[in-house]
Amino acid sequence: METILIRNVRAVDSLRDAECDILLKDGRIAAIGQNIAAEDTAFRVIDGSGLAAMPGLFDMHVHFRDPGQTHKEDVNTGSAAALAGGVTGVLCMPNTTPPMDNPEQVREFLERAKKTGVDVHQAGTLTVGLKGERLADYEALKAAGVTALSDDGRPVPTAELMEQALANAKKAGLPVVSHCEDLAIIDGGIINKGAVSEQLGVRGMDRLSEDSVTERDLQAALKTGAQLHICHVSTRGSTDAVRRAKAAGGNVSCETAPHYFLLTDELLLKQDADYRMNPPLRTPDDVQAITEGILDGTIDCIITDHAPHTAEEKADFRKAPNGVVGLETSLAATLTAFYHTGKLQLQDIVRLMHDNPKRLLHLPVNTLSVGEPADLILVDLNRTWTVDPDKLHSRSHNTVFKGMTFTGKVMMTITGGEIRYTYEE
Ligand code: DOR
Repeated sequence: METILIRNVRAVDSLRDAECDILLKDGRIAAIGQNIAAEDTAFRVIDGSGLAAMPGLFDMHVHFRDPGQTHKEDVNTGSAAALAGGVTGVLCMPNTTPPMDNPEQVREFLERAKKTGVDVHQAGTLTVGLKGERLADYEALKAAGVTALSDDGRPVPTAELMEQALANAKKAGLPVVSHCEDLAIIDGGIINKGAVSEQLGVRGMDRLSEDSVTERDLQAALKTGAQLHICHVSTRGSTDAVRRAKAAGGNVSCETAPHYFLLTDELLLKQDADYRMNPPLRTPDDVQAITEGILDGTIDCIITDHAPHTAEEKADFRKAPNGVVGLETSLAATLTAFYHTGKLQLQDIVRLMHDNPKRLLHLPVNTLSVGEPADLILVDLNRTWTVDPDKLHSRSHNTVFKGMTFTGKVMMTITGGEIRYTYEE
């Protein structure tokens, strides 16, 4: 394995934000400091001036569609997209075909994932077959290697079943990651319910669907004392509910995705299904609430909900499946919205996109200190680029950010001490 010396880089993690050199050797950080000598000419020297080095990002909400829907994505193409976006660890949601409700399938997937260079984790299902009827065997799923439990893509239909799921998950020592939606309220809705859905004459998804089930699950977490993480928060109501449950002492957390702090449902006037996901783009007031939630710590993580679908599947605005890819744009979108506007420091972004998700999943939180894994990214904070769907590494190109310009580009991704991705113009 090559020994790599990164010179004059801005090193950013929970412990530091300082200009220095970083030496990577045998898959670990061997030294960090000023003027590290390149004694050995076999070193690869990387000029880090103008770049920031951070621990590789961890995205705790992705869909790799593997097994069963690999025409959209698989563990290899999903991992390539992750590496291009500076994401070196992921939690895959279990709505695969068949769903991840059995230990054999989890083991087989995790074994294949080891070859990707990405730290791939898998969530097991909360209910057998994602049917919302019977709970899966959490102890067996844990023994097979799952990191969390979720029925993401579908809600758990009743409070009673969710309480039982939380109680069993607590016994198994696994966090529950909850997709909060009331299908009776949704009633076939395809975009946010409001002025835009009315103008288009399409059925809307009322925010009450998200807000009420978020409240229900938070109450169940408070009652059982189990660890609950609320998925893809998109409304003022659910942000406020999480804030209250945290103040009440719940072992609760939540996440949002860049589209919820950058975009609104006005975009749906284009009648392009690439702007459709679940939960849907909301209103300027929700964008404001999500932004406040990130700034005051109510929202713990920025994830992507990377949900690949093919162009054919997305062709019909009304019938297309929900979901957008996001792994290759999440850091750039976050830097543009929060760092370049002066709302957050780089260390805050490392906390939202590495430290918090790993802490919530009980995984080791990395820093750039000696002895830590050589899993890091080099980012040109000031490089401006325009999102071109055809240049994405994902098998699907359904990005909600197509044509948008961001400032901040991942230039290199290193995992296990090896260079896995280099940006090429
Ligand atoms: O937009 C979404 N797509 N939301 C989900 O909850 C599921 C996901 C998918 O699997 O496509």
